[in-house]
Parts: sequence; structure tokens; C-alpha cells
Amino acid sequence: MSVRDLADYPWDAVVPFRERAAQHPDGLVDLSIGSPVDPTPDVIRRALTEATDAHAYPQTVGTPAVREAIVDWYARRRGVTDLSVDNVLPTIGSKELVALLPALLGLGEGDIVVHPRVAYPTYEVGARTAGATPLAADDPASWPEGTKLIWINTPGNPDGRTWTVDELSAAVRRARELGAVLASDECYAELGWDGPWASEPVPSVLDPRVTGGSRANLLSVYSLSKQSNLAGYRAAFVAGCARIVGELLTARKHLGLMPPAPIQHAMAVALGDDEHVAAQKALYRERRDLLRPAVEAAGFRIDGSEAGLYLWATEGRDAWDSIARLADLGILAGPGPFYGSDSAEHIRLSLTAPTERVADAARRLRESAL
Ligand SMILES: Cc1ncc(COP(=O)(O)O)c(C=O)c1O
Repeated sequence: MSVRDLADYPWDAVVPFRERAAQHPDGLVDLSIGSPVDPTPDVIRRALTEATDAHAYPQTVGTPAVREAIVDWYARRRGVTDLSVDNVLPTIGSKELVALLPALLGLGEGDIVVHPRVAYPTYEVGARTAGATPLAADDPASWPEGTKLIWINTPGNPDGRTWTVDELSAAVRRARELGAVLASDECYAELGWDGPWASEPVPSVLDPRVTGGSRANLLSVYSLSKQSNLAGYRAAFVAGCARIVGELLTARKHLGLMPPAPIQHAMAVALGDDEHVAAQKALYRERRDLLRPAVEAAGFRIDGSEAGLYLWATEGRDAWDSIARLADLGILAGPGPFYGSDSAEHIRLSLTAPTERVADAARRLRESAL
């Protein structure tokens, strides 16, 4: 298959429900797409304006400042203390890296790319674009011979599934048996809520408790889109195995895949500031605390969702019926079928709406249950 064979963009199917929800007398509450709604923090906007003289080509490998900032961030926020600048590479947001990784690793026909059963669709898109074979499989024991790349997503989009140190270690062991690259998409790692993640940080695949001291064939992917309201800047990075990072660097130099210089500067500043991340997390917590009990009161069960930006909910009927019910309340949700064939009866509710709109949605949901 090639890029020409990609399906229509699935979100187009939601448009009629958006129109239906917009008819609500108190207006639409859009909880469908996880696009940040809060302003980019001032400290980052100032950094961007400091860097508007960008006459020279940016460095694909990243400026020394951004590379150091990524290394420091892993040590400070993720407990990954043994990286050097040769283990990290900035990317233009993480979606392009997710979509291109199979091709950049040289994968193609006959190679298997594993991704979660309930998953962000770009893992499959990337495998197909490279001509490889995508396989939805969660249990490391079920990852077959012939697997060349394994994507895990922790905390997961859409279901919030979060891998413990022991689970990550089992994934690493299986990847090593297969000689496969294990790439962990960790872009919601700062958003832990319940269970163990109420009190301890979400572990990275690069955590020394997971790697046992060897990063060979392991990659962690992170994005500033959500933690820093930087989705419009396109600011992310990949880190891990120095050999693979070096190969990606060479390929990306040839392809011109480098973040703009002003963004690299803004990224370095954003990564050094924990305060705005804590403030943003507090906002999402407030929205989650409003929404979660109201969704349950309206007859939904919430599965997973112990971390991340979403509530993954079901009322035990077809997702599109739930989408229609919510549209009549003026609430737009994301349909489970967009995330794989295992989620025909789930919907995804994003915490990315202004707090007063989330409060409105919560009120409508409670009233619908009366
Ligand atoms: C699991 C996952 N990975 C990657 C991305 C891409 O993020 P970005 O390209 O903004 O860095 C998203 C965006 O929603 C996501 O949910």
C-alpha cells in the first residue's frame, strides 16, 4: 500500500453529529478532539519572540540548548538519569515521527509492526505507508516472530492504559527475543490521576528499572503539545538507543525534517519550566473531577483512564448511538471505532474544553439521568 491508499480522514464522519450538537440551545461542548484550549504559557511565548532572528537553517540534531534540555527533562521528570545528547532528537511534533518511523527504520513488505489493540490510528497508518504489516496486539507473549517494530502507548490514547515497570520490563524482554525495536509513545506521561499514578510518576521505557542498563533498540517518544499547550508549535522529541537515534538523524537530515529554530528555542525553555506543567495539570484535574462523576451518573462505565487526557466510556451499546445521545445534549465525543475494532461500544471524552464548558456538559449529563 502507499499513501494514496489511505482511507478518508475518519473525523469527517463526526461532522453531522457536530452539527446536531451545535443545535443545543446552550451551545456545543466539544469533547471530541484532544486539542489544547488553554493559552500557551507566557514564559514560552516570550522565548519564541526572543528567537525570531532565524536567518540560518536550523540544526536537524537540535541546538545544544534543546538537546541538553531534553536530557535534563528525562532526568528530572522521568527518572532517566543516564542519557547524553547523543540519545535525543527533536521532532516536528510527534505525529510525523509516529507516522514515519517504520519507513525511517527501513521497514517494508513482510515486516510486522505491532501496535495496541485500542490505539491512536497513526501507528497503523505509519506501518501501512511503509508497506509493512500492522498487527494489533497488547500481550508481549502474542507478539510474533517477524515483528520489527512494536509501538506501545503509555498512558494510552484513548483508554488511559498505563504500563507499570514490571509490564514494561516484560515488553522489553519480548522485544529483545524478537530483535525488534520497542517504541513507547509517552506524550501523556505528566497526566497521572488514579491508582499508582496518584502518587508516583508514570514510568518511561527508558527508566533504568525497565532497561536493566541497556537502551539498545528502545525509544521513548514525547511531545510538548499537551503538557505545555504547544500543539500549534509542533514541538516533540524522541530519545533512547544511540544507534537508532543516529540513523534517524541521518535520514531526517536528508529529508529536511527539523523543527524551526525559534521553536527549538521555545522548546528548550518550556522543558526547563515545571511550574506551567503543574498549573496545566491542575486545570485538567478540575475538569476531570467535574466530568467523571457526571458521565457515570448518566449511565456510562469508565474503563482505564487512570492517566492521560481522556475518559474512555461505554454504556454497553453501539458507540454511534452514544455519540447521538450525547449530541442531543449538545456534547460532541469521539467514537471508539476510530481506535480499532475492539472498541465498537466505547466513546472518548477529552478534557480539552474550557472548565465552564465542561461544567455545563456535566450539568447536562446529570439532568439527562433524572
Ligand atoms: C498517542 C498520541 N501520540 C502522538 C500524538 C501526536 O501529538 P503531536 O503531534 O501534537 O506531538 C497524539 C496526539 O493527540 C497522541 O494522542
